[in-house]
Amino acid sequence: MTNIDFHNDEKLDPSTDQRANRPAPQPGKDAPIGARTYGLTPELRFGTPIWLRKVNDAATLNPRLITEIESLEATNPTIIRSNVGGWHSDTNLHHLEAFKPLRRIIENVSVNCANYLGLDFQKADLVFQGMWANRNGPGDYNTHHIHPNSFLSGSYYVKVPPQAGNIEFNDPVGERAMFTYPVKPEINYLPRRLAYQAHEGLLIIFPSWLSHGVQANRSSETRLSIAFNIDCVLKPPAPIRSAHKQSTD
Ligand SMILES: [Fe+2]
Repeated sequence: MTNIDFHNDEKLDPSTDQRANRPAPQPGKDAPIGARTYGLTPELRFGTPIWLRKVNDAATLNPRLITEIESLEATNPTIIRSNVGGWHSDTNLHHLEAFKPLRRIIENVSVNCANYLGLDFQKADLVFQGMWANRNGPGDYNTHHIHPNSFLSGSYYVKVPPQAGNIEFNDPVGERAMFTYPVKPEINYLPRRLAYQAHEGLLIIFPSWLSHGVQANRSSETRLSIAFNIDCVLKPPAPIRSAHKQSTD
């Protein structure tokens, strides 16, 4: 595992943070109540972030990635995870030179995501945990799953023909399933399942606990994506420096 160097990366400016547009409750304190709270517009709490980024140099990056992925598949059997059909590479691509440019992009975005989530970088490091390629041929798909023992996960889209399958997320609030009611189509903030149209050059990052899957590839072509995990590792406590001195006094 390799620590991510975040010191030179652009950090989110807390003064421009538009997460809730209202003060967040502080540890040990109740949520503040202001004048706007009493209106009919509710506070939406317990948010689930999903970050979408367009990678600007995808047109240069993707052909190289396609070549590398095809080369890997030619010499490595698939491993089985959530994939039904297709080919799943080993999970060590972040160590390969050809994937370093994409790794660097993912690292930069992940640091900003972690900042958004309030990670205290004085107490923990981000660690690039794994990266792997997925080739879904016609009819292939990925069952819904989470990424245990990880902090942030995501996917980058290398080749996505039309109808090749989108990524979809399940509502993480399971208790909402206890009651259903007819919903107007224009009300879209509480879906039971939410899909994003995958397209080449798109980078999606989400909390690793968020259940997701990939729809079946309904095209006649190959769909290529690269997935990854970013871990959050606590820094070791400061060593005891005076023990030896005390013992010899
Ligand atoms: Fe996944």
